[in-house]
Amino acid sequence: MKIAILLSGSGSNLQAFIDKQREGNLDVEIVLALSNNPDAYGLKRARNAGIPVWTEDHRSYPGREEFDQAMLAAIKESGAELIVLAGYMRLLSACFIKAFEGRIVNIHPSLLPSFPGTGAAAAAGNYGVKLTGCTVHFVEEQLDSGPVIIQAALPVPASEETEQTLERIHKLEHRIYPQAVQWLAEGRIEVRGRQVVLTESSRPKAFPCPNNDLSSQWLVYPLLEEGF
Ligand code: GAR
Repeated sequence: MKIAILLSGSGSNLQAFIDKQREGNLDVEIVLALSNNPDAYGLKRARNAGIPVWTEDHRSYPGREEFDQAMLAAIKESGAELIVLAGYMRLLSACFIKAFEGRIVNIHPSLLPSFPGTGAAAAAGNYGVKLTGCTVHFVEEQLDSGPVIIQAALPVPASEETEQTLERIHKLEHRIYPQAVQWLAEGRIEVRGRQVVLTESSRPKAFPCPNNDLSSQWLVYPLLEEGF
């Protein structure tokens, strides 16, 4: 499956896709990396991996729609079948979402529908939640609202700084996001209204292994499979 990845910053999720693909666990071709931030470190990662890059500063366009149309043209030309938002920190216009309806996915650093929008990990920490995590979901017009594909949950010890929690969330993002896209590449994801159903495969499951150290406990559902 051909995918295009949109990012605005560090691109550690893009790197996770590149790594999983190199390990032979992810059956995708990253045909284009796009950014609204020409200085994004993620673009360097893409170029290092030989991935074609499209970047323009969105501030040089008259409005959101014009910028999104320019991205759309590049994506269509690349032949991408799925759009993967990996730390793309701008709202997408309705016309962009409509053009790839049901074929855009996003990762968000909270257990949606809690804490949508920016600064999710800090907001969850300030609220004092005991469990947080990350969510991969389909993209709909309303922010961070589409059907959920996979979630990872982890405990938040009261003594932990947001930075540390975020680091643990990132490690799980790098596993669940490529896993979700691999399921899509295998054609095993069915959307029935709000419910996303994963059809079975013969691949062995890698079970999460709880231990006594709170800072390294986590739970993912649906369960990750071998290679993730
Ligand atoms: C990730 O934590 C992702 O969940 C978040 O941006 C980070 C990008 O990291 N996305 C959002 O907050 C979207 N609302 P990365 O650039 O290192 O992949």
